[in-house]
Amino acid sequence: MVAVAILAAGRGTRMKSDLPKVLHPLGGRTLVERVLNSCQSIEPTRSLVIVGYKAQLVKQTLQKNPNLEYVEQTEQLGTGHAIQQLLPHLQGFNDDLVVLNGDVPLLRPETLKNLLDIHIVNQNAATILTARLPDPKGYGRVFCDQNNLVEQIIEDRDCTAAQKQNNRINAGVYCFNWPKMAQVLPKLTTDNDQQEYYLTDVVKFLEPVMAYDVEDYLEITGINDRKQLATAYKILQTRVKDAWMTAGVTALDPDSITIDDTVELQPDVIIEPQTHIRGNTFIGSGSRIGPGTSIENSYIGENVTVLYSVVTNSRVESGSRIGPYAHLRGNVKIGQSCRIGNFVELKKTEVGNNTNVAHLSYLGDAILGDRVNIGAGTITANYDGTYKHPTTIGSGTKTGSNSVLVAPVNLGEDVNVAAGSVVTEDVPDDALVIARSRQVVKKGWRPKNEKKTE
Ligand code: UD1
Ligand code: CA
Repeated sequence: MVAVAILAAGRGTRMKSDLPKVLHPLGGRTLVERVLNSCQSIEPTRSLVIVGYKAQLVKQTLQKNPNLEYVEQTEQLGTGHAIQQLLPHLQGFNDDLVVLNGDVPLLRPETLKNLLDIHIVNQNAATILTARLPDPKGYGRVFCDQNNLVEQIIEDRDCTAAQKQNNRINAGVYCFNWPKMAQVLPKLTTDNDQQEYYLTDVVKFLEPVMAYDVEDYLEITGINDRKQLATAYKILQTRVKDAWMTAGVTALDPDSITIDDTVELQPDVIIEPQTHIRGNTFIGSGSRIGPGTSIENSYIGENVTVLYSVVTNSRVESGSRIGPYAHLRGNVKIGQSCRIGNFVELKKTEVGNNTNVAHLSYLGDAILGDRVNIGAGTITANYDGTYKHPTTIGSGTKTGSNSVLVAPVNLGEDVNVAAGSVVTEDVPDDALVIARSRQVVKKGWRPKNEKKTE
């Protein structure tokens, strides 16, 4: 049995932000959500989140995670003070407590599991996750005796020049035997440079305290400022892209591509340069995405191509070709083997199979059947200034270039719309509609008061 506590009460002054630091997004998920996710591997029986700065907002953001217990730290007097707030909540709790800073978002679940295993096997009072950093600046330094038992942790700002040479740092991830911890927490003082209660000071009163070095030090990158946030994003991206390449995805010029770790790709997907895939997106085998494409929260079937396009909250079935320069703006469903082409914008529109919308169109609130051909420049006039109205276009229908379909309007199946028509009324199946004025040709015509030249 293990409980988890996440420190999420600080403002994160160095972020220079109104938003609490732990709510800053990293690849589509907030820092604190990432920390919470990394705890799943140890199956905690209780998860406590210590909130303070903008507590309401933090709780709101974490709403989707059920069974979280919130503990208020109304004044942020340091990480030790934050853990002191748990005392009334964990009264009678006799097991281990895993504590994580809310700003350590890259931790691998296995690492946490190893830390806990070592803690339990050795019956430690505390086990501290540590790392050897090439540049330990800013982190607390961990000092051990010859038996690898931790004697003290000294914050960077409290270190002497000699102590700063120690590159073994505290990752901000700990296991504590709670009954022992509960006894020593009241002993913390504020005699340090920041005049805060440091959680790290408990090691002076506990025994034994062991340090466990993480294998990949990039995992414990803590986020204190925007530069570290950017570094963490890079680390995350390398991890995600390496994993997909190992799984059979081609990434051409990976440095110019970003992929959220919520995305799912099948083998033999090809991601071309300057492409960004975000959120809850799935891409089927054989699809070629990019260059210059952004896809968010969308399903892309197999063997689809998406070239220089933006696709959001949409679905594209197998064999369709999207772009160049298409914008599927949301709630768009494209059937199989369609072509959605150059400078086409679709919104809340369903397109059947084998249908083409190939050039210069806007279709909104529309339903198109199969084998429809939308001529260049066809527009649905779906908005009357107050309300949106629907357009339906039956299977096999063709619209001529520059047609305007004034919604609400229904075109039946196998309708032909003459080029340049403004269609305002429904058209039955199997009909030609011409809705434009007839061409007039006046032979030999001159303006009345044309100047006569000799
Ligand atoms: C802390 C550690 C440092 C370690 C580093 C790892 C202490 C004293 N120092 O330093 O040894 O190397 O993390 O990243 O713990 N928080 C609260 N309430 C408070 C203060 C902070 O909940 O009163 C939360 C913050 O929201 C944050 C976490 O605790 O999520 C860590 O606080 P931060 O100020 O970033 O600590 P560091 O200076 O990075
Ligand atoms: Ca920190």
